[in-house]
Amino acid sequence: MTDATGDGGQVQGAAIEDYLAELRTFPPPEEFARSALVSDRTMYEQAEADPEEFWAAQARALTWFEPWDQVLDWQLPFARWFIGGRLNVAFNCLDRHVEAGIGDKVAFHFEGEPGDRRTITYAQLLDEVGRCANALRSLGIERGDRVAIYMPMIPELPVAMLACARIGAAHSVVFGGFSADALRDRIEDASARLLITADGGWRRGHPVELKANADHALSSGARSIENVLVVRRLGDAAGNLVMQEGRDHWWHELVSGQDPHSPAEAMDAEDLLFLLYTSGTTARPKGIMHTTGGYLTQVAFTHRTVFDLKPETDVYWCAADIGWVTGHSYIVYGPLANGATSVLYEGTPDFPGRDRWWSIIERYGVTTLYTAPTAIRTFMKWGTEYPAAHDLSSLRMLGSVGEPINPEAWIWYWQQIGGGRCPVVDTWWQTETGAIMISPLPGVTTLKPGSATFPLPGIGAEVVDDAGRKLERGGGYLTLTRPWPAMLRGIYGDPERYRQTYWSRFEGRYFAGDGAKVDDDGYLWLLGRVDDVMNVSGHRVSTTEVESALVDHPSVAEAAVVGANDATTGQVIIAFVTLKLGLEVGHEHAEVLRAHVVEKIGAIARPRVVIFTDDLPKTRSGKIMRRLLRDVAEGRDLGDTTTLADPAVVAELRRRAATGSGEE
Ligand code: PRX
Repeated sequence: MTDATGDGGQVQGAAIEDYLAELRTFPPPEEFARSALVSDRTMYEQAEADPEEFWAAQARALTWFEPWDQVLDWQLPFARWFIGGRLNVAFNCLDRHVEAGIGDKVAFHFEGEPGDRRTITYAQLLDEVGRCANALRSLGIERGDRVAIYMPMIPELPVAMLACARIGAAHSVVFGGFSADALRDRIEDASARLLITADGGWRRGHPVELKANADHALSSGARSIENVLVVRRLGDAAGNLVMQEGRDHWWHELVSGQDPHSPAEAMDAEDLLFLLYTSGTTARPKGIMHTTGGYLTQVAFTHRTVFDLKPETDVYWCAADIGWVTGHSYIVYGPLANGATSVLYEGTPDFPGRDRWWSIIERYGVTTLYTAPTAIRTFMKWGTEYPAAHDLSSLRMLGSVGEPINPEAWIWYWQQIGGGRCPVVDTWWQTETGAIMISPLPGVTTLKPGSATFPLPGIGAEVVDDAGRKLERGGGYLTLTRPWPAMLRGIYGDPERYRQTYWSRFEGRYFAGDGAKVDDDGYLWLLGRVDDVMNVSGHRVSTTEVESALVDHPSVAEAAVVGANDATTGQVIIAFVTLKLGLEVGHEHAEVLRAHVVEKIGAIARPRVVIFTDDLPKTRSGKIMRRLLRDVAEGRDLGDTTTLADPAVVAELRRRAATGSGEE
């Protein structure tokens, strides 16, 4: 499996070098392929022959009030799709299913963290969205306004989003784990007129008081907010909640009394559907703009084909938070547009026990699970006894998103969760792309653990070198070569920043910062953010490959590596490693792991220092914060760590780094 000596046989000066070779392959299980929605390559060929006609055919699967006159207008870097077409996203997600006679079908099996459960059918969801839409209208919200939403993972969150879509107001969902300041900044950037929030939500058995945070946000700025609509979720557990007369309204008082009938506005295909802010670790957050027709077309198409959706029988669960783009596209809009039955879960995976997810899968007969590598590696760390205690035989499809999935984590997911029978689709995309871009199609693609495989039909993706030349083989920069329907339409209020951020590095190509490599079979492997690439003695080594080599060792659950400056070699590799729980290893284990990396990759990638840690610093969406680890490794001041999921992790790391555990 090791194709590497000291320099991996690679040419020096390559954009990013390519060391790790993963040779295991998994063709689609025969039975799966036989009944798959897409079981041959025809769709790829059709899309390649005429991408615009291909996307038009996907758009026709939606209900349009007015047809479009033109599929695409492309004035690089500004795209408009389905020009002149009119539709309503909420109508497509709800009304048309109820009209088609499936109103009694379950849209969401909701499970709150404390164990409360609600089953919500499409007909019930339509009524609640209609009531909420009328409530928004009663507060003066009109087509074209912006509404900020700051809520826990409860059914009223998708209801609020769909109510906005119904009346043509754009929503800006701010993740419920963000601070009052983050909420205020996002409200101000969007000039939102209304804030929809809740008294709070449940997290790991504790109430999280959102209304109190919202009040802080509004008292320190956010002057554009005229009204606040508040869902009662915590009730008496909400501490001393203050409702401000004239500004704050209880959902159960204002919404419940409304007429459930509410006309769906005929929106232009290019009208703003939502803003979603990407939280840069340093720069000002960017309000990513997504519009109506193209976005819904691509999320519905990808949700159906990537997850091989059988809406009559599947029970689909995307375990992300709706506050991230994954939740927007694959909890709310994609599944509802396709008439799917989904699970919606409020809380954490370890409350009240570490088997919570597996008990949910067993209870609802979940067929399709979509989650992130960070969750998978956490489950690996906890051990197999938790999934093993539950019947997971209903599962038939697994998905991964958010970070490169290390081959060993992929194999663990495949075996321990999927029982060796479920295709695992590793889906690459971004807030900016709106929908999945690179992914296997489970009935067609032979899988390689750790590879997102190929661009989906209709998508153009290429790896290029420093000069922007296409690479047929080897490591470089991942670029997108043509517009796609769900692409961001810009950064709210800042078209120049849009051009500069995504379209200036390589001429005519979209570049959003990821490294990738192409293997001999043309498979794409994501290598992490290019800002994280390490430069060791002139070799540009990807963090992902070294981390995957570490995770490949049976003792390791998770690893993060960074390059720390070094006078001799440019940078040296520092590895932060989390071992599987219950393992007793001595100090010499660092040397075992270093040797393992040398065996898998080569001497060039040998970590200088291995620091063992119970946890890694992560953003609230679960991405490892390598910037912070670099600061730890180089002994720098850490600055603002409030975007961390658990700031205490860093203090502990500093202590260990200072005592030099595992130094060579
Ligand atoms: O670096 C890539 C990584 O996540 C980034 C996008 O993050 P965000 O906008 O928060 O959206 C996450 C959910 C779509 C990408 O630039 N990323 C996402 N999916 C993958 C991935 N890296 C490797 N493999 C993936 N499947």
